[in-house]
Amino acid sequence: MKEPFRINRRKFLAKAGAGAAVTMIWPFFSSCDSQSSTTAKPKLSKDFQPDIDLELKAVQRDLSILPGSKTKVWVYEGKLIKGNKEALLPLQGSYLGPIIKVRKGQKVRIRFQNDLPEESIVHWHGMHVPERYDGHPQDVIDSGETYIYEYEVMNRAGTYWFHPHPHGRTGPQVYNGLAGLLLVTDEEEQQLNLPQGEFDLPVVIQDRTFDDNNQLVYLENGQMGRMTGFLGNRILINGRPEQRLNLKAGCKYRLRLLNGSNSRIYKLAWEDGSPVTVFGMDGSLLNAPKELSYLMLGPAKRADVWLDLTNKPEGTELTMKNTSFPLELMSGGMMGNGGMMEGAKSVLPQGSEYPVFTVLANASGSNDYTLPRQLAQPDYIDPSTAGNLNAPRQFTFAMGHMEWTINGRTWETTEVADEEIVKLGSIEVWELINGGGMMDNDDDGGGMMDGHGTMDNGGMMRGDDGMMSGGGMMGNMMQMPHPIHIHQVQFNILERNVTDVDPQLWDAVKDGFVDEGWHDTVLLMPGMSAKVIMQFKDFKGLFVYHCHNLEHEDMGMMRNFKIV
Ligand code: C2O
Ligand code: CU
Ligand code: CU
Repeated sequence: MKEPFRINRRKFLAKAGAGAAVTMIWPFFSSCDSQSSTTAKPKLSKDFQPDIDLELKAVQRDLSILPGSKTKVWVYEGKLIKGNKEALLPLQGSYLGPIIKVRKGQKVRIRFQNDLPEESIVHWHGMHVPERYDGHPQDVIDSGETYIYEYEVMNRAGTYWFHPHPHGRTGPQVYNGLAGLLLVTDEEEQQLNLPQGEFDLPVVIQDRTFDDNNQLVYLENGQMGRMTGFLGNRILINGRPEQRLNLKAGCKYRLRLLNGSNSRIYKLAWEDGSPVTVFGMDGSLLNAPKELSYLMLGPAKRADVWLDLTNKPEGTELTMKNTSFPLELMSGGMMGNGGMMEGAKSVLPQGSEYPVFTVLANASGSNDYTLPRQLAQPDYIDPSTAGNLNAPRQFTFAMGHMEWTINGRTWETTEVADEEIVKLGSIEVWELINGGGMMDNDDDGGGMMDGHGTMDNGGMMRGDDGMMSGGGMMGNMMQMPHPIHIHQVQFNILERNVTDVDPQLWDAVKDGFVDEGWHDTVLLMPGMSAKVIMQFKDFKGLFVYHCHNLEHEDMGMMRNFKIV
């Protein structure tokens, strides 16, 4: 296994002083000409006049989540140094970080202090910021250190979020509690009469497993759990176990859904059959609201959902549930054989039916917010302006040699392949392909299923659990969804190709994708590919793109791309 080697090198890098020394030892590192922050951490700058200045501290706490013992969690705690009070809203009683509210055009300074027992760095998911403020894994700081972010908010109104991004530790750090919402508003949004204050509600959906002593359990299934991604056995909403939102009959609400789970996919539907009205995704409002019978929400994705309780009597209860899709069969079959998932009976299988949260109208009131037919002005990228419309860059996300790979490669801290270099200002189409296993990939002859050597070397899949017995099971394991995320940009989704998707699976999910609007993450079901279009604007530098199944990301399904 190469894993320890990679971790050592990262540690080495983080601690190495001058970039030149790094280059001498690792001549293949190519990014020393970029404004990389391996050399110097950004300092507080005197000419930067922040509208909002805040401290964000990552720290371990004991929090009362379940009845009984407190739970050890890692939390972001915020403190406003300058700015209006609404800019920082703590989520009471939750391990989730404070909600940070900003407006397009504002200048924000965040002083991130790492009081965790290990390295970390904050990434602003979906935000368009310069390289050194993006939270690249090479910018991790040690315990006790501070990292200063200073940037202007350039994004459209939308629901963004922040979370750690150290390579190999993002999954456990997010799981331990480190995540928060970053809400951006702009003039266009302010002119609409959308719900504000208590009617603009965060709904962060995560799955967690607690042990008998109320402590969080991560990856109890060892390596196998890392391969498939972590699945908890219960749902938490906004970091709380109640799964209940106490609302007012007679009122209208904006629900800001974030799938903050490490690897769980949701297929969300109202239990009473009423449509799910979506009016925003990731980094924008939609041009027009869309009514769906259910909404697919992959890891890291956000959706604005309209909730109208005007004709509901007090006491109304409405449950948003996960409805089934046949993905559990794949992992279920895998786990069935070997019994290595003993105790998995209590696990909520991916794609099973379970309640996600319940809206309870336990008071009444009224408000006059409206959901307009026309929200954001259409400003999508015209595909004909892309330089490579007919020959998009292709990135295949697949299993290779017992590792998760992108175009056959795995994570290297500063490495960039030729096909990962793009020009500042260019408009490009990328075709993101969920390639499953590399079984029919003959360019290296090392496909996982055709080389015994791979298995022997890896050793991982051997053992007495009988896992190797069913070839079909191995095939299934590689058929994983991959939620693909590109840093630095928001993109438009041009098309999905589903010809290689299992028809039964596609049939169960096809009505749930909202591809309008601006996105930073696209969920690719097994066999699916998607073409996305984006422009690389304003900032040169090294940024990452990766699978947002955090276990896959930690295992190396992440690469750099470089804007030159
Ligand atoms: Cu939310 Cu690089 O990730
Ligand atoms: Cu991101
Ligand atoms: Cu993945």
